[in-house]
Amino acid sequence: MEAILRRRSIRRYQQKKVEKEKINKLLQAGMAAPSAGNEQPWHFIVIEKREKLNKLAKIHPYGHMLEEAPLAILVCGDLSQEKYEGFWVQDCSAATQNILIMAEDIGLGAVWLGVYPEQSRVKEISSYLEIPENVIPLALVSVGYPGNSKAPAERFLEKRIHQDQW
Ligand SMILES: Cc1cc2nc3c(=O)[nH]c(=O)nc-3n(C[C@H](O)[C@H](O)[C@H](O)COP(=O)(O)O)c2cc1C
Repeated sequence: MEAILRRRSIRRYQQKKVEKEKINKLLQAGMAAPSAGNEQPWHFIVIEKREKLNKLAKIHPYGHMLEEAPLAILVCGDLSQEKYEGFWVQDCSAATQNILIMAEDIGLGAVWLGVYPEQSRVKEISSYLEIPENVIPLALVSVGYPGNSKAPAERFLEKRIHQDQW
């Protein structure tokens, strides 16, 4: 709960590699997400090669922080694993959010970079990373040891809550 309330988007990083154990924790969190009919349609591409991170920073119009990040995880949905059509987006979004929360919990900073449904980002990233046609990249998560800190956001709004009817 603390990690959920503390989490912010972190776009500056220290020049320090993220340890394998921590990467595994992020992936474990991603795969612990709920999914429609437990379809678990996700795949995760772990990107650590500097050249690839730099290229992705160029492909993604708001992904400049990847030039500083030591790690990115691309969360993808496999349409051939879907039991209930169209639900892969929600499944993979839940996995992405779990990764962000785990990052916060283990002292890392991360930011969600939207890919799907922007077709140019989907196409360019899929082609660059040789992703098969039935697999769609949903979100690129930029990760590293935080280079800055942010205060928790207070977004609780009474007026967005409706009791028993609108
Ligand atoms: C679907 C989605 C797409 C996003 N895409 C980007 C992005 O392309 N670049 C970026 O810097 N942040 C991106 N963000 C992060 C948001 O800007 C950020 O979550 C929002 O401003 C709230 O700030 P916080 O995460 O610090 O609480 C994205 C977040 C979501 C959920």
